[in-house]
Amino acid sequence: MVSSLDGFISKKDGNVNWLTSTDHYEKGITLSEEEVEAFIKAIDCYVMGSRTYEKALELGWPYGEVPVIVLTNRDLSSNRENVTFYAGDLDELVNDQLKPKYRNIWMVGGAMITKDFIRLNLADDIIISIMPVILGEGTLFFDYIGQEQTLHLKDVTTYRDGMVELWYEIVKKEN
Ligand SMILES: NC(=O)c1ccc[n+]([C@@H]2O[C@H](COP(=O)([O-])OP(=O)(O)OC[C@H]3O[C@@H](n4cnc5c(N)ncnc54)[C@H](OP(=O)(O)O)[C@@H]3O)[C@@H](O)[C@H]2O)c1
Repeated sequence: MVSSLDGFISKKDGNVNWLTSTDHYEKGITLSEEEVEAFIKAIDCYVMGSRTYEKALELGWPYGEVPVIVLTNRDLSSNRENVTFYAGDLDELVNDQLKPKYRNIWMVGGAMITKDFIRLNLADDIIISIMPVILGEGTLFFDYIGQEQTLHLKDVTTYRDGMVELWYEIVKKEN
């Protein structure tokens, strides 16, 4: 997920201009097109909430033919063959339906389903990219998750445009 420094993943008015930055950080890196392509190619499946899905339709579909699972309790439909809709138990979705088929499952967001996946111990990693901006209002990545979660910092990458990517592994609790 991409976040502002004050923890927002979307603005109240839906404006996405803040997702691109004109900042310049000399020591940061820039990914080549090949590197971005390889990263995207490694994703086997996307999972997202219906609001994130509707935003993606509005902005221009970025997921190509990769399988996309949209969580919704509404009766939504799509003419894209790679889009399926799911309602209900997230543990069953991940462990029974997705894990046997896919290795790299990417939770696109938004905030609502991200929190549920962390709470239910269904996420392995969190990658959060902080843009050099304070938005002041909008949808918070973590408003109130209601439980403590220990993390292991796996990697930090700083980008030329001032974005800082933090990659955490979720330290699984012993049952
Ligand atoms: N900055 C980023 O990296 C980033 C990434 C992703 C999204 N976003 C932004 O975040 C915003 C959306 O986030 P959000 O938190 O408001 O919404 P969201 O998580 O995208 O979607 C919430 C919806 O998902 C459905 N849902 C959630 N859990 C479900 C379950 N267990 N079973 C069935 N349906 C379930 C419900 O849909 P129904 O109401 O249809 O039943 C719920 O209203 C958008 O503006 C998007 O652009 C930002």
